Amino acid sequence: MSDIRTIGISTGGGDCPGLNAVIRAATKCAIQKYGWRVIGITDGFDGLIHPERSFELSLKHISGILPRGGTILGTTNRGNPFAWKATDASGKAVVTDISPQVVENACKLGIDAVIVIGGDGTQAIGLELFHKGLKTVGVPKTIDNDLSATEVTFGFDSALHTCMEAIDKLFSTAESHHRVMVCEVMGRDAGWIALEAGIAGGAHVILIPEIPFTIQKVCNYIQEREKAGKKFSVVVVAEGIKPLPEMKAQFEREKRAYPRAGAVGYLIGDAIGSCIKKEVRVTVLGHTQRGGSPSPFDRILSTRFGVEAVELIARGEFGKMVALRGGQIVSVEVAEAIGQMKRVDPNGELVRIAKSIRVCFGD
Ligand code: F6P
Repeated sequence: MSDIRTIGISTGGGDCPGLNAVIRAATKCAIQKYGWRVIGITDGFDGLIHPERSFELSLKHISGILPRGGTILGTTNRGNPFAWKATDASGKAVVTDISPQVVENACKLGIDAVIVIGGDGTQAIGLELFHKGLKTVGVPKTIDNDLSATEVTFGFDSALHTCMEAIDKLFSTAESHHRVMVCEVMGRDAGWIALEAGIAGGAHVILIPEIPFTIQKVCNYIQEREKAGKKFSVVVVAEGIKPLPEMKAQFEREKRAYPRAGAVGYLIGDAIGSCIKKEVRVTVLGHTQRGGSPSPFDRILSTRFGVEAVELIARGEFGKMVALRGGQIVSVEVAEAIGQMKRVDPNGELVRIAKSIRVCFGD
């Protein structure tokens, strides 16, 4: 018999579609199957630093949240309790380890175990808290799909839908105006979103961090299309591509407060425009990819992950994370799961398929 009475649920890092679906499934299963209490920990682990901000989740709180984007618990990607940023009495910025406070507050709230929903950074914090004595289990999330421990993370499929719809729309306007449309998508240092959304949307050029490219090859390809009577092209660019040597200076100059979004999309757009002397327009999809309602696939995966996280707690399998492997939900050691990025294989099947239908990767 499990000695669990109360569990906590926390969502950390960037949000994505499906977080609420996990919260709903885990809460329903904990309350209705096991008769446990559930505490919603607000804003990552902040709700354990300020325990008065956390609250008991009832079935009423989770009613109707399945289709809602975001997270009803709030999130942050700045709240690492092991490197907590604060100011001391003299106003100087200091970084301290307040994890003992987090573990103590969880105890004060009566929390026996915590479901940590987040990407690799959040899972790493969850694991450290586990080593400090807090019982934790993990649920992986990210639109980037770059965690090697699981075949897919929820959020990715919904982001693909958003990107594909945008690419479809860019196609019609690109064709009408005989323009080159550049569409920048997210994905951090992995090209999954660009590759899969690009294939799904029928993009002519896909640029990803895993495949080195040159602007000349991209331009040659676009000009070949022109000669063949195709007066427009759609180029999908992953935000994580490395700036080409000739762009480095401009890249440095244009670095802004938000270093990722927009930087490479506009550089690529400018470079193509000045090379082929044709009208180019750039669209940066940015955080639209993280918002909105989860797709059916993500709702189902989130529900499976949420229920299985509760089952891990019931079985006492702490320090583990749920994952999808071979279509089955399994559990893996968080320690083995984090820090191993899954990147696109430049010789893998998807790239080969795309190349077989003459998609240009600029290589
Ligand atoms: O990891 C998810 C993600 O959306 C990345 O694709 C992107 O680079 C990053 O988060 C953006 O983070 P922020 O919301 O802090 O701008």
